Amino acid sequence: MAASRESSGEDPLRNFVRVLEKRDGTVLRLQQYGSGGVGCVVWDAAIVLSKYLETPGFSGDGAHALSRRSVLELGSGTGAVGLMAATLGADVIVTDLEELQDLLKMNINMNKHLVTGSVQAKVLKWGEELEDFPSSPDYILMADCIYYEESLEPLLKTLKDLSGSETCIICCYEQRTMGKNPEIEKKYFELLQLDFDFEKIPLEKHDEEYRSEDIHILYIRKKKSKFPS
Ligand SMILES: C[S@@+](CC[C@H](N)C(=O)[O-])C[C@H]1O[C@@H](n2cnc3c(N)ncnc32)[C@H](O)[C@@H]1O
Repeated sequence: MAASRESSGEDPLRNFVRVLEKRDGTVLRLQQYGSGGVGCVVWDAAIVLSKYLETPGFSGDGAHALSRRSVLELGSGTGAVGLMAATLGADVIVTDLEELQDLLKMNINMNKHLVTGSVQAKVLKWGEELEDFPSSPDYILMADCIYYEESLEPLLKTLKDLSGSETCIICCYEQRTMGKNPEIEKKYFELLQLDFDFEKIPLEKHDEEYRSEDIHILYIRKKKSKFPS
């Protein structure tokens, strides 16, 4: 997959900008940090999901499928996916841990001229009680959030708390074969299927250029409750 970097500081290894070209020729610019947590760089799953949102198959005919839709992104990191959604007309909340908020706000600011919906950054730590978040957003987006065993249950609790029967969760993840990754992925699916149904989007429906055999996109929906509330 093509990666484009642009030096943005005195030390090009510490700070660099990832450039993500849109189908309409405009360009999202994402500040990254060469040091810090895993959220400080744009991961390939974020690129694959961002570009998928632009595909004709997803966007639909006429107004874009995300236009005026409420979107919440979990584990946003640099905010690439949420920002792409906001440029496609969605009203987006990008979320991550406290330490990522400055980077998220910087990237919102750097790309605000492209936003046709709206976008704001908020702290959301998986598993914690949620305040001030709209329940049942139209979409929940997440890229490369399945990588750490201890965070699987908190992540799934947050998905359960936030999603409603109409919420479409779109999860993009990279299948990794090293170390504990296969085990973590297996556990994620075991836990996921307790409360959610899911389907995989075939590779041929991903963006023609930004796709990879080991990066998967899933649509996930909360299982219908058996009993009326
Ligand atoms: C591998 S990065 C992916 C970042 C971004 N989605 C991307 O694909 O470029 C995982 C992200 O999840 C966030 N994260 C990890 N544990 C979290 C938690 N318990 N609550 C909220 N966010 C968390 C990290 O801060 C990081 O930004």
